[in-house]
Amino acid sequence: MESKRIAAEKAVELVKDGMKVGLGTGSTAYWAIQAIGRRVKEEGLSIQAVATSVQSEQLAKELGIPMMPFADVDVLDLTIDGADEVDPALHLIKGGGGALLREKIVAAASKQLIIIVDESKDVKQLGKFPLPVEVVPFAFELTVKKLRKLGCEPKLRKNGDELYVTDNGNYIADCEFGAIADPEALHDDLNRIPGVVDNGLFIHMASLVIVGSADGSIRSIT
Ligand code: A5P
Repeated sequence: MESKRIAAEKAVELVKDGMKVGLGTGSTAYWAIQAIGRRVKEEGLSIQAVATSVQSEQLAKELGIPMMPFADVDVLDLTIDGADEVDPALHLIKGGGGALLREKIVAAASKQLIIIVDESKDVKQLGKFPLPVEVVPFAFELTVKKLRKLGCEPKLRKNGDELYVTDNGNYIADCEFGAIADPEALHDDLNRIPGVVDNGLFIHMASLVIVGSADGSIRSIT
């Protein structure tokens, strides 16, 4: 928790007056939203924000962070978000919290995507973390079979006894590929399957990764 918090607080130092900011989702992004809320309250930091999940939007509103409608967004100055894995090329696996689609839409609208992680997420090769793939409910059984043909073992994410449903009304298949040799090719292969809405590979999207460590040190990867 401490390593996530220090990475988040370092990233929030990059937020400046007048910026349009994307708020990520998850236990690391939580600390970034807290730190932004504190700066809004204590320093009068003037920003406008959009959130990548219902959960993050609720938290931001509770903290008094001014939110803007997506209709008013052209380009965001920066987005601060967590990740499940980060490789040396700054390719990411995201979606452990189920918010990958909104996260990717917001990241794609951002001049800078700043990723905040603890050191457990900093890996040589992506793939130990099962890759989340968002699929539409219609004929999801067929979509899952197509996913399996790409060489993974897909497991539909559950919420208790029910299938987990994203903020967009879709399902998540967590796909164990093992080491992913070519993330970019896999990203494209997955998104070519009808029924796949998007997948948790974020390729060439992150501009900076901030890694917090348990000893209190912080490392940046660009
Ligand atoms: C949410 O869907 C994810 O992409 C998160 O950003 C990712 O799972 C990291 O989450 P934590 O910060 O909770 O580890």
